[in-house]
Amino acid sequence: MQQEHAENASSYPVEAENAAEMNRLIKQAEVMTHCLGPVPASLDLRQVQTVLDVACGPGEWVVTMAKQLSQAHFVGIDISRLMIDHAQAWAKSQVLFNTQFRVMDVRGPLAFPDASFDLIHARFLVGVLTRMTWPPFLAECFRLLRPGGIICLTEAENVGIATSLAFTRFNSLLVESFRRQDHCFTKTGDNSGLTVVRGRLLQEAGFSLLSQHINTIDFSYGMPVHPDFLENYSTMLVVARPFFMQTLGLKEEELKILAEEVAGEMQDPSFQAISYFQTLLGKKG
Ligand SMILES: C[S@@+](CC[C@H](N)C(=O)[O-])C[C@H]1O[C@@H](n2cnc3c(N)ncnc32)[C@H](O)[C@@H]1O
Repeated sequence: MQQEHAENASSYPVEAENAAEMNRLIKQAEVMTHCLGPVPASLDLRQVQTVLDVACGPGEWVVTMAKQLSQAHFVGIDISRLMIDHAQAWAKSQVLFNTQFRVMDVRGPLAFPDASFDLIHARFLVGVLTRMTWPPFLAECFRLLRPGGIICLTEAENVGIATSLAFTRFNSLLVESFRRQDHCFTKTGDNSGLTVVRGRLLQEAGFSLLSQHINTIDFSYGMPVHPDFLENYSTMLVVARPFFMQTLGLKEEELKILAEEVAGEMQDPSFQAISYFQTLLGKKG
């Protein structure tokens, strides 16, 4: 079934066609690819010819990888027409002929034949998939991979662990709003639980687990990435405000104050914080 247009409402925290969110994602992707690497260094890409990037956003990962792996053909899919148009324009500006981008909703059947890809990559689907939609999504990935194909999934538990009060409240609100939309596997607390359950979900979909890779990013005051994280979370607290208001019943004024407090704390030399990321590699067959 063709899925060029999303029919059911997404519970992603920001509406699909939001330019501020796109700019946030461009910068976030650059930092993440730089700090985490595009894929684990142990992954052998020499035989890879076809690659799918799921919820590709503005296309940073595809563009980065398509430059490195000129023998491979890359497809990026995302629900947002804005992101897909940007990704297409970006790839064109880099004179890349091995990329393609399509609007598609990852919560339904994906419009590709069986065994179309050697590698499927997805980073940060916490806001995209729910407890109910993870299993069918992974089943679709299994169908789309060739025997021996690899799935590479990267997620975080939350926005980070910090020593400061307002930042910790921001993290709690984000996780709780995700939980109310059924995106979390934890029943309470400040973690989504995604990094805990994905190994089992992959195995239940038929994959064998190859490896788990843990990375941390220290975004304490004074660290090289601190300005990027400050900007990222400041923007997130603006673009996701309607989501927080709707899911948690918070008032706009309250969230404005929280955003000011988070920015203030992050700019204090005492601010210390770390994020942790898990990448899982699974194999079909
Ligand atoms: C947190 S961003 C991750 C972007 C990219 N994977 C990266 O790491 O830079 C999540 C992306 O999922 C997209 N998205 C949200 N709901 C979606 C859906 N149902 N199907 C496809 N994409 C979706 C958003 O438009 C956004 O680009």
